Amino acid sequence: MKNYKEEFLRLIKSANKITVITGAGISAESGVPTFRGEDGLWKNYRAEELATPYAFQKNPQLVWEWYNWRRELISKCEPNPAHKFLVKLEKEKGDNFLLITQNVDGLHRKAGNKRIIEIHGCIWRVKCVNCAYKDYNYDIPIKILPKCPECDDVLRPDVVWFGESLDYNDLQKSIEACIKCDLLIVIGTSGVVQPVASFPFQAKSNNKNLKLIDINPVKNPISEIADLYIPYKSGEFLKDV
Ligand code: APR
Repeated sequence: MKNYKEEFLRLIKSANKITVITGAGISAESGVPTFRGEDGLWKNYRAEELATPYAFQKNPQLVWEWYNWRRELISKCEPNPAHKFLVKLEKEKGDNFLLITQNVDGLHRKAGNKRIIEIHGCIWRVKCVNCAYKDYNYDIPIKILPKCPECDDVLRPDVVWFGESLDYNDLQKSIEACIKCDLLIVIGTSGVVQPVASFPFQAKSNNKNLKLIDINPVKNPISEIADLYIPYKSGEFLKDV
């Protein structure tokens, strides 16, 4: 691990602008289950069967039950050394740092990151299926079915589900930050869910000087094109760098 650390720190030092992409793996050591691992199942449902507009339309109670379970679980989790490392990195780099997370668990904010795009939304926010109402809501459990205080229609989690588009501004800003940085660090994503999975590929092909680091105990499509692939758990690797 020592050699990986030396090379990791060298790449960080020589980069002016740094962009970081995180996925469920960074929160695994905090106790948040990943989506595609064995522990990603809930009552025999897969995330792909519940995180869809169709699933919510068909059975909103079931989908809210799942989110209540996840909220309760996440509320007991604390940021781990990998989250804390990214807070330190943001402090060092200031405006030259951007964190793009696919996680909806809010642990990066809890750790203290501010320059962050939660590209798949946030489990601690709700939004109305009908009007523009959107707000933070930390109730555990949320009363099923929650109603919009403005129009009385149903509230849903403010997260991006399969088959839905990402916020256009978030998407633009994220792609630009990936392409225009000197160092792109990817942590704990399976690299199979679009569009984020393609960001490192777009960055590499549009910026020949860009360096790419992937931290993930399991090889994935992103580690294949990384300049430095670090085959360790992120909390373990980043705890004393
Ligand atoms: N440190 C680093 N990486 C880890 C760790 C760890 N401790 N533990 C697991 N991983 C890696 C796994 O090897 C895997 O590659 O994290 C990845 C988690 O993959 P997924 O569960 O597929 O999560 P993610 O890639 O974030 O999923 C993307 O899919 O379900 C949707 O919207 C959801 O944001 C999510 C998106």
